[in-house]
Amino acid sequence: AIEKLELKVRVRQLLKEKQAVLVAHYYVDAELQDLAEETGGCVSDSLEMARFGRDHPAKTLVVAGVKFMGETAKILSPEKTILMPDLDATCSLDLGCPADEFAAFCDAHPDRTVVVYANTSAAVKARADWMVTSSIGLDIVAHLHAQGKKILWAPDKHLGGYIQKQTGADMLLWQGSCLVHDEFKGIELDVLKAEHPNAKVLVHPESPAAVVALADVVGSTSQMIHAAKTLDAEEFIVATDNGILHKMQMAAPTKRFIVAPTAGNSATCKSCAHCPWMAMNGLRNLVQVLESGNNEIQVDPVVGQKAKVCIDRMLDFAA
Ligand code: 13P
Ligand code: SF4
Repeated sequence: AIEKLELKVRVRQLLKEKQAVLVAHYYVDAELQDLAEETGGCVSDSLEMARFGRDHPAKTLVVAGVKFMGETAKILSPEKTILMPDLDATCSLDLGCPADEFAAFCDAHPDRTVVVYANTSAAVKARADWMVTSSIGLDIVAHLHAQGKKILWAPDKHLGGYIQKQTGADMLLWQGSCLVHDEFKGIELDVLKAEHPNAKVLVHPESPAAVVALADVVGSTSQMIHAAKTLDAEEFIVATDNGILHKMQMAAPTKRFIVAPTAGNSATCKSCAHCPWMAMNGLRNLVQVLESGNNEIQVDPVVGQKAKVCIDRMLDFAA
């Protein structure tokens, strides 16, 4: 415990010394989320992380999250130094959508508008017309559908399927999934709901359709926290990474939050309701990167410039 306290003191010192700002996702350790908030950084969903990083005047951003979040920050602000506690922190959606295979998929369907989820590499974004995050994907696809556009969607099949169902858009889906959300199970959730008849169910749209079907609210991490705070209920069942419970509990201290059931039991299932890559962010490696300046995110400038077009489109749409 003393070591943790010392590490936190050191992070605060180093952020000041290096004039750096900490941008964290809701799935990383509670300590990192708290440090980000108290030192003038931010803790939020992917859309807000991108916007905050772009608009903040600091020359150095430390992104506590996964690689695509660091890359998005770099693409939006090539002049800034973007550091990450662990450069191996990736995402199963990113891994499951290699740029060359994705390019071939796009080449085979030239009549479709290419919409990609934020959870992809810079090279995949460079090939897209639009990038979206979970908080705004539905609105953007509805907008494109209203213009008569046919969509090629990648990589998350569950989020894509959900948006397709909601908007009625013609969408061709890449078959990727998030290894954390894919574990949530509809049948078990139905049983849990019966045991907690007054609980509201909050679901991230990377979850399978059977889980989404039982939701009271489907939304991004920020939207789920907002719902926990504002919905008139005392109990909630939450289908997303359990890192979110920290902020949910802070937003609604008297309410009770239960993590939705997953396939394995938590003793045997390593990825159950917690992203192994988000978990690579810790106090120790945060101090190390701040001290050393190591683990800088690099994006090929030509790829970055191309990728920026589809990210800017989303940010302009959201503005
Ligand atoms: P949000 O944009 O909802 O924070 O989602 C990011 C993510 O990786 C969810 O698994
Ligand atoms: Fe990727 Fe899933 Fe981890 Fe989010 S929770 S970063 S989608 S693997």
